[in-house]
Order: sequence, then structure tokens, then C-alpha cells
Amino acid sequence: MEKFLIKQSLNIKGNVYIEGAKNACLPILAATILSNGKTTIKRVPFLSDIDVMCSLLEDIGINIKKDTINKCIDIDTKNIFNKEICYELVKKIRASFLLAGPLLARFGKVVIQMPGGCAIGVRPIDLHLKGFKALGAEITQKHGVIEIQAKNGLVGTEIYLDFPSVGATENIIMASVLAKGETIISNCATEPEIVDLIEFLNKMGAKIDGAGTETIKIKGVDSLNSCSHTIIPDRIEAGTFLVLGAAAKGELNILDVDCEHLKAVTSKLREMNVYIEEKENSIKVFGKNILKNVDIKTMPYPGFPTDMQPQFMSLMAITKGAGIINETIFENRFMHIGELSLMGANIKVEGSSAIITGVDKITGAKVKATDLRAGASLIIAGVCAEGESEISDIYHIERGYYNIEEKLKNIGVNVIKIKTT
Ligand code: EPU
Repeated sequence: MEKFLIKQSLNIKGNVYIEGAKNACLPILAATILSNGKTTIKRVPFLSDIDVMCSLLEDIGINIKKDTINKCIDIDTKNIFNKEICYELVKKIRASFLLAGPLLARFGKVVIQMPGGCAIGVRPIDLHLKGFKALGAEITQKHGVIEIQAKNGLVGTEIYLDFPSVGATENIIMASVLAKGETIISNCATEPEIVDLIEFLNKMGAKIDGAGTETIKIKGVDSLNSCSHTIIPDRIEAGTFLVLGAAAKGELNILDVDCEHLKAVTSKLREMNVYIEEKENSIKVFGKNILKNVDIKTMPYPGFPTDMQPQFMSLMAITKGAGIINETIFENRFMHIGELSLMGANIKVEGSSAIITGVDKITGAKVKATDLRAGASLIIAGVCAEGESEISDIYHIERGYYNIEEKLKNIGVNVIKIKTT
């Protein structure tokens, strides 16, 4: 078990280089199943979730060569085969279910169990399955094992998603690229990570139109080939450091980002009176102004991202006045509130809303990272809290933040990782 010990570190300063996006890299790695050749993925964030996805691919015969220095992975699918996906790996990450679409497209059959991942809600997979069914697959579920089979191959069709689910959009796109005829997916997710996946698939020879819009059209092709692709910057890592800079009254330069992907975050920070300066590939945050509280509602992209909700809650907890956060995406994404309360935050929950009344100061405490972004919110709170904080279960944080300890130290945060038994 590892923990972070963080001492109050105000006035942090410096540059933060942003990694490739975990949530773009995971579906793209899964999509390599569709390729007949060698693929190179660049700007890979070598996080534990990425390692699990690589192990899932290796388990079905895919050859993976990791180059952690140059942050790239070479993938060769020459020896790929189909078998029941390893449950030990499937239960580790939610994104393991993204193997279903490409395997179904390539082999006409997938046997997989319900995926694991952060416990931020029930997280059903009904929309993924509905999409596969519409494309002609039969689905049976017994003792937790899901068998998806398209005996006569997949056939393009029109699919309407009841909710613009990120994962379902990705899985259905990947299932459709080799289907006969045209597939039209309406009310689909428009997240930048989906645009990146489509760009990758099109480079391999897929015919997909409408990336970034609510209607995606896919013309089935016979096969997909090799390509090389660079992952987009991680907007959530960038957003987390922007909020950290604002909360700790620091001055940070967030580098190698796509400002367009961060509009909801930077607009909210500006509304709070945080000074933000955007350049072509960088954003500067200056947190010395007197801030005021705001209201936030999480929404699918381009709305305010649920993955930034916990981090904003830490900032709002130490900002003058009261604000409301309405979480509309996940029903159990308030687990950080109990931990922030231990540090002296004044937060009340009413249904899917949290009412945050800013306090003059919070104090260090022993807290627990309950999930990835909740853990990020505790780092922000720990940096701002008087005294020392001890954050346990940091493996959650390391699932989504590459080299977080070093990056924090580089900007002046007093943090150390300790091992306990
Ligand atoms: N949903 C359904 N049925 C489905 C699929 C989703 O009801 O078949 C519901 C979910 O239960 C949830 C909502 O739809 O209430 C949104 O889920 P979505 O499918 O959009 O999310 P996801 O694909 O499971 C990805 C990210 C999450 C991020 C969400 C929302 C990856 C690997 N994960 O999850 O990232 O919060 O989109 O933007 O891309 C994180 O990085 O911390 C993280 C949790």
C-alpha cells in the first residue's frame, strides 16, 4: 500500500507537461485488434490502466513492444486469436469492454465478463449491447459471462443511443467499421477522445464521417491496415493542474495541451475570477486574484466534464461564497465529499447536487482516494490545507496521472510517496 504525504504548498510555480490522453489511448489500443498489420501509437501515457489494456491484447496473441522512453508502443496483430477474455484483467478496468466491438467485427464472436473500473456508479453496458444487437449480433448472458455472436456477420443499420455514452459510441463504431453497408449512429458522444479514435480508424482505412458531431456515419470496409498515430493531449490531466494552480494561488504553465478541449474548464475558472492566458498549445493559470464561487452542472462534451467535478469541488470548498455542483453523469461520484469534510470543507448533498460553502481554511487530515478523480481532488485539497495530509489508496490516482509525484515536486509541492504495510 502506498500513500502520499502532502504538506501545505502555496504559491506553486513552474511548467507542467501534459501526457497523451488515457481515455483516448485505451480505445485506440483496443482498435488495433481491427488492424491486419503493424501499428505504432505515440505519446502513450504509461499508466497502470494502459498496462492492463496491453496485457489484454497480449492475452489474445497480439505482440506489444513498449518504448517508455519515447512514449510509444509498436503493435503487431499477426498472431491474434479469439478466446474468452481473461476475467482477472477484465475486472481491473472499465475500458476492457472496449475489446468487444473490435473482436466482434474481426471474429464474429466475443466472450467476455462485466468490466470493472472506478466505482462511480452502476455503469451498465446496455447501450453497447443494444448497438451490437442492432448490427445483427445475438447476445446471451449466463453466470456473468456475456457471449456476443454474429453468425451471419454484422450488417450496417441505424442506431439511436438513448444517452451519448462515450464507451458505447466507441464500441459501436469499432464494431461497424467492417460491417456490410452503412451504419448511422445518432445521439452519439462528441468527446475529443472519440474524434481521436475515428481519426485513427480512418488512417487505417475505415470510412467514418461526422467525428465530433452527434451523428456518425460508417461505411463498412473489408479490412484495415497499418498506421502510426499520436494520441491527443489529456484534457483532464491539464484541467486538474489548472485547478491546482488556481487553488494553491500559484502560477503554472500547462504545456502541450489543446485549449479547444478545455473550454468548459477554462470558462468556469474565468467565471471564478481565475486569471487564465491561452496560447496556441499552452495555458497559463495565475491564482492570486480573489476568487468567487460558481455553480456547475456536469454534462456530456462540450459541457462541463464529470471527470473534472471532484477537482473543482476542492477549489470551491476554499472559495468565498456558496456554489452548487449538479452531477448528472454518474450517480455515485460524490465519494470525495466525506474525505473533503474530514479536512474541514462545508459541503451538503441533496440528491445529485452538492452545496459547497467556501471556508477560510481547510486542514490536513488522513484521507482516502476512493477513485481516480476523487484522489486528484484530495491532492488539490492537501496542497491547500494547513499542515499535513496523508492520502491512502493512491493506486487509484496513478491509474490516470503519469509521474504525478515528480510533476508535483517540480512545481514546488511538498509531497512524498511512502510505503506502508
Ligand atoms: N451508461 C449506461 N449504459 C451504457 C453505457 C453508459 O447507462 O451502456 C451510462 C453510465 O452508467 C453513466 C453514463 O452513461 O451514467 C456515462 O457513461 P459513459 O459510457 O459515457 O462513460 P464510460 O465510457 O464508461 C468514459 C471515461 C470516464 C468518463 C466518462 C464520461 C474512459 C475509459 N472512461 O467512461 O472516465 O468519466 O466516459 O465522460 O474513457 C476517468 O477517466 O476518471 C473516467 C471515469
